[in-house]
Amino acid sequence: MAEQLLPELDELAERYYPKGDYTRKGPTYLTSYARLLSNRRMDELRILELGVFSGASLLIWRDYLPNATIVGIDIAQAPERILNLERVHFLRGSQDDPEILRKAASLVGGQFDIIIDDASHIGYLTKRSLHYLFPFFLVPGGWYIIEDFGTAFIPEYPDGATYQEPAWDDAVPSMREFRSSQSGMVGFIKQLIDHLMQELMTGGRSFISMDRLIVETNIVFIEKSKQSGAPWPGPIPDFAPDQSSAETAISEASGPSLQVLTEQLTAVQIALTDCQVLKEEIVGQAQRLATLERMASQLRSALTPVLWLRRLLKR
Ligand SMILES: C[S@@+](CC[C@H](N)C(=O)[O-])C[C@H]1O[C@@H](n2cnc3c(N)ncnc32)[C@H](O)[C@@H]1O
Repeated sequence: MAEQLLPELDELAERYYPKGDYTRKGPTYLTSYARLLSNRRMDELRILELGVFSGASLLIWRDYLPNATIVGIDIAQAPERILNLERVHFLRGSQDDPEILRKAASLVGGQFDIIIDDASHIGYLTKRSLHYLFPFFLVPGGWYIIEDFGTAFIPEYPDGATYQEPAWDDAVPSMREFRSSQSGMVGFIKQLIDHLMQELMTGGRSFISMDRLIVETNIVFIEKSKQSGAPWPGPIPDFAPDQSSAETAISEASGPSLQVLTEQLTAVQIALTDCQVLKEEIVGQAQRLATLERMASQLRSALTPVLWLRRLLKR
């Protein structure tokens, strides 16, 4: 199809997002994507999107970029409508699983031109994906996009916190830090500024070697540098420390030793058992008291006619 006859992003969003779909990429996102992609529409781009849901965005990329290959990853099952399509691939797995990410890259011959993270919107998962994909599987000069970082301001979100207006009263000369949100995705995006500044400050590039970090409302665009970065520092350690390292950390920490803490815990457990026994004894006594009261009341009722009789006889 001739380039000028190809559909625009807003038409495609209308066509593919189900009515009322809360995951729909809104008009400002589409405008930003058009700015990035409109002069590359006939290129053989390789696109990875983390987070597929209804499959709408994969279909949008397929139609907007008629020569592109698109790979989607999701922890949920693939929607029917994206199965068995030319140029569209689906892999099931988590966005931070290196094996799935490697498989995705091998489907397009090794590297992507565009990577979009629209998956969990949880800071540490977003970080783990970027940490692996950006240095290895994004071409130099490619773009990495992170959507919906505003989850950091939703307290119900696993790593969110209530939004607070930026402090206005902390701009005094003695204060080094300006108070602002550090949680979840927003905390991570602020870390990306440190990566961006590394070369200027230290003379050596970060392993996340970028030229531009464009932060827009709720979405960030990162341009990978054509200059190579520092060697990869290795995988991010697993989120949950294993039992032995947790025990070492406790025993190395200052304060009571693990043995003392265990003894204190045992003493508390014994005291709790004693309390339980006492409680059961009190409940038993209360039940006995209630029975005695009932018997006394029955006795009073039985004695009433006798008392009346005695009063009558006395007259
Ligand atoms: C916002 S929706 C994706 C919408 C899609 N990009 C679009 O615009 O049509 C988010 C998707 O991310 C998936 N998801 C959540 N956590 C994930 C994870 N850890 N790894 C991969 N996918 C995940 C969810 O199953 C859900 O389908």
